[in-house]
Amino acid sequence: MNANLSFPYEFIGEVLITQQDIEERVRALGEQITSDYQNSEKLLLLGLLRGSVMFMTDLMRHVRRPMTMDFMLVSSYAGTESSGFVRIDSDHKTNIHDWDVILVDDIIDTGYTVYTVRKLLLERKPRSLKVCALLDKKARHKVDLGIDYCGFEIPDYFVVGYGLDIDEKGRNLPYIASVDLEKYKKMYLNG
Ligand code: IMP
Ligand code: MG
Repeated sequence: MNANLSFPYEFIGEVLITQQDIEERVRALGEQITSDYQNSEKLLLLGLLRGSVMFMTDLMRHVRRPMTMDFMLVSSYAGTESSGFVRIDSDHKTNIHDWDVILVDDIIDTGYTVYTVRKLLLERKPRSLKVCALLDKKARHKVDLGIDYCGFEIPDYFVVGYGLDIDEKGRNLPYIASVDLEKYKKMYLNG
């Protein structure tokens, strides 16, 4: 059989965060948000596509408040290295003026993406703006960033699963796993 068609993907290294760990942590984050926003009349979860989709839809199931959701499509990455250049491919639709916005991303790596988007959103005068990320590679930050809601801190591995990808592959895994980059290169980059 073609190795590229096997599942789980052959380039998976080890499972770092299990499905159950994710479920428990996401529930706790949702409960925390529910209690922190008791007095909010306009709560918006604003996800960054595409990596935050699975996290966002699970998270909002645990937000026991009226809320709305919106998305932005941004890109900063080609392969496994951040370019530091963040492009807004598609903007959110909601007018966020006076809204309590929680920016939701899958993973903070260098921090450039969230730093840039955050700056842009603040110009639009939300009532408040907080950052929620499922994963944080703290050792890789290149900008100073406050993360208000963080799922898990992870070491400097390239990871896939639960929405995260390597060149669009791996998003559908229900857990977070490291990528065996040597294997990956052999399989997809002929190297
Ligand atoms: P940053 O701008 O360097 O913080 O990069 C953030 C974006 O890069 C994330 O939203 C992801 O899309 C992507 N990224 C960073 N690290 C990983 C990883 O280990 N796996 C998958 N995507 C990643
Ligand atoms: Mg992303």
